[in-house]
Amino acid sequence: MSEFVLAAVAWPYGNAEIHAGNLAGAYLPADIFARYHRLKGNQVLMVSGTDSHGTPITVRAEAEKMTPESVYQRFHHSFLELFQKLGLTYDLFTSTHTENHFKVSQAMFTALLQNGFMYKDKQFQWFSPAQGRFLPDRYVEGTCYICGFNNARSDQCDQCGNLLDPALLKEPRSKIDGSTPELRETEHFFLDLGEMEGQIEAFLKSRESYWRPNVLRQSLGQIQSEGLRGRPITRDLDWGIPVPVEGWEGKCLYVWFEAVIGYLSASIEWSNLQGKSDAWRSWWKHADAKTLYFIGKDNIPFHAIIWPAELAGADGKFDEIFGCKEKAEFVLPYDVPANEFLNLEGKKISGSRNWAVWGLDFLSRYDPDPLRYYLTSIMPETRDADWDWGEFYHRNNDELVATWGNLVNRVLSFAYKNWEGVVPDPGILAAEDQALLDQVEKGFETVGKELEAVRLRSALGEAMRLASEVNKYLDTSAPWFTIKNDKAQAGRTIYIAMKAIDSLKVLFSPFLPFTCEKLHTYLGYSEPLFGEQYTQNINDALGEHTVLLYNPAKATGHWQPSQLAAGHQFKEPQPLFKKLDESIVQAERSKLG
Ligand code: MF3
Ligand code: ZN
Repeated sequence: MSEFVLAAVAWPYGNAEIHAGNLAGAYLPADIFARYHRLKGNQVLMVSGTDSHGTPITVRAEAEKMTPESVYQRFHHSFLELFQKLGLTYDLFTSTHTENHFKVSQAMFTALLQNGFMYKDKQFQWFSPAQGRFLPDRYVEGTCYICGFNNARSDQCDQCGNLLDPALLKEPRSKIDGSTPELRETEHFFLDLGEMEGQIEAFLKSRESYWRPNVLRQSLGQIQSEGLRGRPITRDLDWGIPVPVEGWEGKCLYVWFEAVIGYLSASIEWSNLQGKSDAWRSWWKHADAKTLYFIGKDNIPFHAIIWPAELAGADGKFDEIFGCKEKAEFVLPYDVPANEFLNLEGKKISGSRNWAVWGLDFLSRYDPDPLRYYLTSIMPETRDADWDWGEFYHRNNDELVATWGNLVNRVLSFAYKNWEGVVPDPGILAAEDQALLDQVEKGFETVGKELEAVRLRSALGEAMRLASEVNKYLDTSAPWFTIKNDKAQAGRTIYIAMKAIDSLKVLFSPFLPFTCEKLHTYLGYSEPLFGEQYTQNINDALGEHTVLLYNPAKATGHWQPSQLAAGHQFKEPQPLFKKLDESIVQAERSKLG
């Protein structure tokens, strides 16, 4: 039976270009996962957008003497370009600066307020006497009062991972000009996490058997050691979503409070664009839908605690306020497979110091599938990982080109030449022929199981292992020699190898969609494996914005062993991958820093 699967992907800040760390952390794993489920015939909805509010944007806008709007729009457009070039197939990639997102966020706020999960309180907030305004939490840094780390942001510590109470930060300094801020009193709405603690804890415990240890430690662990406290979810800021309460003009919803709502609002926007305004409910209001949140580890508390609290706390009221015909409870996150960090050549990635591999820049010199391959093979799923240009070079040449690409090329070229582009008749299979087919066939289970559990590194490793098995089979059967005096036997080997390649094409396709789609056409198929991406301009009360969409393939259910039969016609193949010259390693390293 077909399942509803939501791939909710972290929203990139609209103030910087995307680098390999962002891709490996969240965006690429989500796409691989979504493509796999589409091949299985499941109903996938993959959504995200540009995180366009909050101080990262206003600070950059001030520095450039531009409007916040033009800043996030510029990066938003470069994200759209990157995601198309890298084949990240969002069903909708939008932004938080849309009329729809404002409405949905305000409805969530009001639902939480009416349900009694919001209270008003005065709070001390960092104020910059030098700039004459309140400073956002992220722009005040100092020493963590929990672990003593001296580079903590006032709202979260990157060393111990804890959410912090900004007013308790030690030795504060403004990140904007280094000046010392002071605490001033201001009134805000607080999300009453304390009131919801029992519910959140029960939710997390129900996921305890399969969530990643780090995600549990940073969520359940925090509840069990310190407990939850109310958190302010409004700010003294004018760039963002207005607090929908009279007398609160000049204050906005806190960017994290509303950005996570983006998953819901983007699903609603997608439904409206499809002309089926209730479609989103299949992923959000049906208990058996599976919702997975693809994020980096610095986002864990917002997705494992705050977002579930917002969803559970809005139940019963959101549907009413938003004008839905039916009423139902929100589906809570099924999984939050957060990744660790990716470093670069042994050092922490830093955009400002140009210690990064930038997505678009990379794709101006290399193809997308080698990037997807390398990033998956080092994906930081259980611990921090390291991008090493030497390793990129080797994995491209020794694995993609030598193991998989050459296998495809030598079999298909040889078959094309000797059997005139028609799959040969195998006659009766020998035991070793059947054994190889069985082994590859089993890959649909073993690779599929790893993909389902979001162990993508191991899923890809298993597919590559099967490709090596096919190489071994060919080396032993040596059709290039047997053809000289036994063409029937060579034909049988080639038939087996082509079927294995046809199956491996599907197993590899979530990771390597561009080259597998090419291979699919060389193998003589006319219906593509995947659908197409396209952009659309939309006008609403906030202005014009461009979104990225995905038009699914007509045929689904490709996730099954090859059905290729003798007599099937195929085309002359072209090499799938390019061998790289070793000189790229030094050339790329010298560009860093
Ligand atoms: N913009 C945040 C980041 O890149 C991620 C936000 S995820 C969201 O770290 F769901 F909150 F939008
Ligand atoms: Zn700390």
